Amino acid sequence: MQPFSIASPSTWALLALPFLSSVLGSPLLQQRAKGPWKGLDTNFPDPSFMKAADGKWYAFGTNGNGKRVQVARSDDFNTWTLLDVEALPTLASWETNIDHWAPDVVMLDNGKYVMYYSGEAKSDLRHHCVGTAVSDKPAGPYVPNETPLSCRLDRGGSIDPAGFKDKDGSRYVVFKVDGNSKGHGGDCNNGVEPLVGTPILLQKVGADGFTPVGDAVEILDRNTADNDGPLVEAPNLILHGDTYFLFYSTHCFTDPKYDVRYATASSITGPYTKNNNPMISAANTGLLSPGGGTVCGCGDRMLLHAFCTEERTDRCMYVADVNISGKTASLA
Ligand SMILES: *[C@@H]1O[C@H](CO)[C@@H](O)[C@H](O)[C@H]1NC(C)=O
Repeated sequence: MQPFSIASPSTWALLALPFLSSVLGSPLLQQRAKGPWKGLDTNFPDPSFMKAADGKWYAFGTNGNGKRVQVARSDDFNTWTLLDVEALPTLASWETNIDHWAPDVVMLDNGKYVMYYSGEAKSDLRHHCVGTAVSDKPAGPYVPNETPLSCRLDRGGSIDPAGFKDKDGSRYVVFKVDGNSKGHGGDCNNGVEPLVGTPILLQKVGADGFTPVGDAVEILDRNTADNDGPLVEAPNLILHGDTYFLFYSTHCFTDPKYDVRYATASSITGPYTKNNNPMISAANTGLLSPGGGTVCGCGDRMLLHAFCTEERTDRCMYVADVNISGKTASLA
């Protein structure tokens, strides 16, 4: 299928780019402005990304624009085009047709692509499982496996998966146990005592990317003393040097205090030490509830979302340069 750019202000910016870059081609002006810039001016929440075998970057977003799983593509990571494709055209029998949240894709050594995503469990509506699906091509169609990777419906469900390949080649998936979906009301349903946990779990998987190996282990949780608000969520894990960086968001996604933080560890299973100084926040970017960030395994770039406008309906995708130094990650 041919990529199709939706008509939006960013489309015109893309069309104008060759002209602008020839005019602004001096080395000084090629330096990008500090801070995130809008990569997609449309609803594209919880973006993740990977570089495919064709050398292009592919981003995956939560259901929106009439698609269960949205896909965008970029040659240079700076400018992005929304593709008119449905990456998940078929469903597994455990899931309903709605709530395909926070997809994440990894490329296996054999060239296949595995997508992790959350879908609503038929057996427990309004709660979710993490499913897996496989494709030969980065933009799909992904064919779902019948067995979800994790459900944890006893604790609210499993959402927000992200894949990781360790230095020894072992594969893992991190995800959130959606405890606040079984909370007691208030802020994101977890503002009323007794507050419940929203742990981040680490599940080892086989070389196929989706068969669990052993049990999942808990590597992080929300904590009132850390000012996490009702939850931690949207985990993604990278290894930089000898340090594992676990990026995550705190607070309700509608709260101006939604953010991107990280915790570090020298072993993949932890213990993870939180750096409670948000790497990305409304205060240091001017964005509206920024969060849902994914950082490149290469450590130098990321995608995240923030509300597009003050109406706080759609969440646009933003792009940022990242600087990791030792155990510290910051906007470049
Ligand atoms: C990267 O971060 C380190 C440590 O915070 C800092 O010393 C360095 O100047 C930063 N580099 C850039 C390019 O921002």
